[in-house]
Amino acid sequence: MSDAPKIESLTIIRPDDFHVHFRDGGVLRAVVPSTARDFARAIVMPNLIPPVVTGEQASAYKARILDCVPEGSFQPLMTLYLTETTQPENVRQAIDNKLIHAIKLYPAGATTNSDSGVHCVERVIPVLEVLAETGTPLCVHGEVTDPDIDIFDREAAFIDKVLLPLRERLPELRIVMEHITTRDGVDFVKSQDDNVAATITPHHLMLNRNHLLAGGIRPHYYCLPIVKRESHRQALRVAATSGDSRFFLGTDSAPHTRDTKESACGCAGVFNAPNTMGCLAQVFEEEQALDKLEMFSSLAGSKFYRLPANDSRITLRRFAEPVKFPAMLATATTSSPAGLDGFDQVTGPDSSIVVFDPAQPVYWDVVRD
Ligand code: NCD
Ligand code: ZN
Repeated sequence: MSDAPKIESLTIIRPDDFHVHFRDGGVLRAVVPSTARDFARAIVMPNLIPPVVTGEQASAYKARILDCVPEGSFQPLMTLYLTETTQPENVRQAIDNKLIHAIKLYPAGATTNSDSGVHCVERVIPVLEVLAETGTPLCVHGEVTDPDIDIFDREAAFIDKVLLPLRERLPELRIVMEHITTRDGVDFVKSQDDNVAATITPHHLMLNRNHLLAGGIRPHYYCLPIVKRESHRQALRVAATSGDSRFFLGTDSAPHTRDTKESACGCAGVFNAPNTMGCLAQVFEEEQALDKLEMFSSLAGSKFYRLPANDSRITLRRFAEPVKFPAMLATATTSSPAGLDGFDQVTGPDSSIVVFDPAQPVYWDVVRD
């Protein structure tokens, strides 16, 4: 251990979140300010009910998001949900009209609201060819859904069964493997060229499967891909703090109301938008890599997405005592246009959203005025 004085404050280029779920209606209104407070831009996931599948739907959703931004200049970066009936020409148009920044591939049945996803990648090759041609990233939920494959092995199996053949088939396609959770994911990205990158969440840097399962089941740590054993968490921490620009921040902040998490069949998703940057500073400090935090959360993602770096900054401060983050976010119970989502139907005390508990003291937070 070095006896250099502890760093007490850190100013970095304002970060972006390259993977967030905002939902719609009352939940949207409740959660957007948390992201807009610390992040300049966010890649917004399209897994609403029904999913965002056209450029027009993406623009309408963007307008609803912007309507929930308190003040300032937060910019939602929209995506489309890839289905087996997505038309390549519609995708090309949405890209040409600058309505979208990426397309999301969910294997059918892999996670929350993924029923309209892809069963067979072969059927979406014409759309992927448009992405390859235009340099538009394909964001991939990298888990197989085969019931014979153990849930802890689904990421590794996806690399072998889907990603490696896809790389051979379309080497020009630019792929983001979303929320990697294993050493296999890290090794895969490192073994590829610059057309492959990965996002990493704060919770996968802080939790292993004991946090989820030992001494009682903790539904607020249940997310997909599921948290893995400690050696995988260590591999993720090394990758995130390495300064390698192929690894960047995607929070996968995924709000579900409390009643749907604390249930006999609880939803997958961790809501971490309010405390991501404090948690990350803690992780990077522990890894003695605070000087790499800006690359991970503010530079690498925009480089991959071919966006300019943000021109504003945020300051993080180290406190003498652990930071007390808010435990819960209330959701408005105002109604949304019928059928837009399944998340704002609930009223009453259980319609609040539990904020990520990092399971360890965190001494860092963003300075906000
Ligand atoms: C996400 C959600 O709730 O939409 N859940 C999750 O556990 N991450 C879906 C996803 O990103 O897989
Ligand atoms: Zn997600």
